[in-house]
Amino acid sequence: MKIAVVGATGLVGGEVLTVLEEFDIPVTELYPVASARSAGKKIAFKGKEYTVVTLEQAIELKPDIAIFSAGGGTSLEWAPKFAEVGTTVVDNSSAWRMDPTKKLVVPEINAKELTKEDKIIANPNCSTIQMVLALAPLHEKYQIKRVVVSTYQSVTGTGKAAVDQLMEERAGKTDGDKAYPHEIDLNVLPHIDVFQDNGYTKEEMKMINETKKILSDDSVHVTATTVRLPVMGGHSESINIEFANDFDLAEVRSILENTPGIIVQDDPANNVYPMPKFAHKKNEVFVGRLRRDESQPNTLNMWNVADNLRKGAATNAVQIAQYLIENNLVG
Ligand code: A2P
Repeated sequence: MKIAVVGATGLVGGEVLTVLEEFDIPVTELYPVASARSAGKKIAFKGKEYTVVTLEQAIELKPDIAIFSAGGGTSLEWAPKFAEVGTTVVDNSSAWRMDPTKKLVVPEINAKELTKEDKIIANPNCSTIQMVLALAPLHEKYQIKRVVVSTYQSVTGTGKAAVDQLMEERAGKTDGDKAYPHEIDLNVLPHIDVFQDNGYTKEEMKMINETKKILSDDSVHVTATTVRLPVMGGHSESINIEFANDFDLAEVRSILENTPGIIVQDDPANNVYPMPKFAHKKNEVFVGRLRRDESQPNTLNMWNVADNLRKGAATNAVQIAQYLIENNLVG
């Protein structure tokens, strides 16, 4: 497989390279791609050095798969060009997610919908992926009516500039370049992505709309508040789920324990619950604090944590690539 990693010098692109190695994807040729600023730089992969190329150079090489993590503008312009030369694009940006002609894929839930004709495949938003992986099996069993989610998101989701801002502020430097409109160290910003006319942020609307699309069910109502914290290892979410049907808590636990990609960490007596420091660099979604919402019937509370650069981005994208390869859906 000739695989291009677009945005290879970025935070997500770096994780994509690591996960391609970890999953032992049969990469025969690797094309690390970044902006012209980075062309010529060296990238290490499986013990070898590779030279970073530009998008123009990469397209000439006609990769079988290109995993894009270089922002929405780059994806909008370049994904169709790669698709035109026969490359299957797995896109981490929000550019194609809500396009009705493109599939929005969390492999454990809906990879089976993929065909050879899908040349641009959208990877969902990080916060959506970790939530929906836990929602899908519960929706199938008890029928979700409404979800109320609040997020506690890592600065790594914003990219290198945000990590730099946090580290500089922690070192006492508060007048450097800012990825956020406010200081992030020792602070909490109820603001992720841009505000919309309805008062929600774009991140909140992504969680709402993408969840319905991945579950293929517009009747699932979702409301979200997305929040940035000075945290590094992953995103956390407090999720309140109202079902049409009643549930048994032990059965919920067992369903989640048997869901591929989920690890239940729920032993409050021993202070065991999901945390970003533990989820960091792991490919799974961790759930815990499972309990009934005692304020109304058929309602569950859950705490959910994942490394947003892994299952929220790179791992999910590489799993899509792996599915395409194993099912002969590229080329
Ligand atoms: P570069 O390092 O050359 O700027 P992050 O989100 O962590 O900041 O990473 C963004 C990634 O997307 C980087 O690899 C960056 O490359 C890449 N990138 C940004 N703009 C472009 C572009 N116009 N063409 C190709 N790659 C781009």
